[in-house]
Amino acid sequence: MSKVLVTGGAGFIGSNLVDRLIEDNDQVVVVDDLSMGLKSNLQTSSHLKFYEHSITDHEFIKNLLMTEDFDYIYLLAAVASVADSVARPYETHQINQEANIFILEIIRKKKLQVKKILYTSSAAVYGNVQDLPKYETSLVDPLTPYAIDKFATERFVIDYGKLYDIPTVAVRFFNVYGPRQNPKSPYSGVLSLVTQSVLHRSTFTIFGDGEQTRDYVYIQDVIQALYLLTKESDVVHQVFNVGAGTHTSLNQVIQTYESITQRELKVVHKKERPGDIRNSFANIDKLRKIGYQPRFDIADGLKEYWKSF
Ligand code: UD1
Repeated sequence: MSKVLVTGGAGFIGSNLVDRLIEDNDQVVVVDDLSMGLKSNLQTSSHLKFYEHSITDHEFIKNLLMTEDFDYIYLLAAVASVADSVARPYETHQINQEANIFILEIIRKKKLQVKKILYTSSAAVYGNVQDLPKYETSLVDPLTPYAIDKFATERFVIDYGKLYDIPTVAVRFFNVYGPRQNPKSPYSGVLSLVTQSVLHRSTFTIFGDGEQTRDYVYIQDVIQALYLLTKESDVVHQVFNVGAGTHTSLNQVIQTYESITQRELKVVHKKERPGDIRNSFANIDKLRKIGYQPRFDIADGLKEYWKSF
């Protein structure tokens, strides 16, 4: 049984991770200010302690780290919306970068012994560079406050780890989808929006011709990756792409969904979203080398997702 801290544990990815940790009998502490996450995403369990709190509260974070003896720390709390980061660059920075560095700083100063700290970055760091697939060594071009903070923090986490001998690792998520992805915002992941339209038989808007592709990766594969990266003690001070390693167009997604649900999706086309990238997908060889095998292709992932409603 391990003691695990998940910041942002009430969010889409965090809460799915928490479920898996509890299943494995771990003792889990979640810190989440519920700005994006939902309390209802969390199960009630004697294995779970929940603090509705911002990670930017230094006193709180310091006390928490000093009183609990965490084996593993997953840093998922973030302003997850790129648009939000553009509207509130300074606040985003406090949360997406500064608060995470503060956690590292407490661990360094107080010489806290952790088995692994995992930071969650994003494929957004690659920006608009069109060489595909994206390797971890590909050029980065972070274009928004969100992407800049993600990239800078990822570097901090890795180099802090190297400099002060703290076992850290970072991941770059591609387009994660699955149960609990919040479809409420217009900036939600497209698959949660498509799902809502199929569910409510409402019209779905395709920006552009629908031929744009993404590396859609199902939440359970993401959890698999997070597990491998924390449990493999030799894997430190590196960054890993987390994707399915394939790319699928929006039109293909819709076709697949229609055949799974036997429902026809009404679509309208609007102009391409400004700044949208055309194609994106991950090279995941580095992750495969430590044992990762994506188990859900787009059809399997959508089937699972659909079953959750
Ligand atoms: C993701 C981020 C985006 C960021 C980009 C940078 C999310 C939800 N989006 O965008 O903020 O700038 O990475 O890497 O995290 N689409 C539609 N109809 C819709 C919604 C989306 O056609 O209602 C299209 C989009 O125009 C896009 C594709 O679907 O071409 C995927 O959109 P999205 O899920 O937002 O992902 P990214 O474009 O990868």
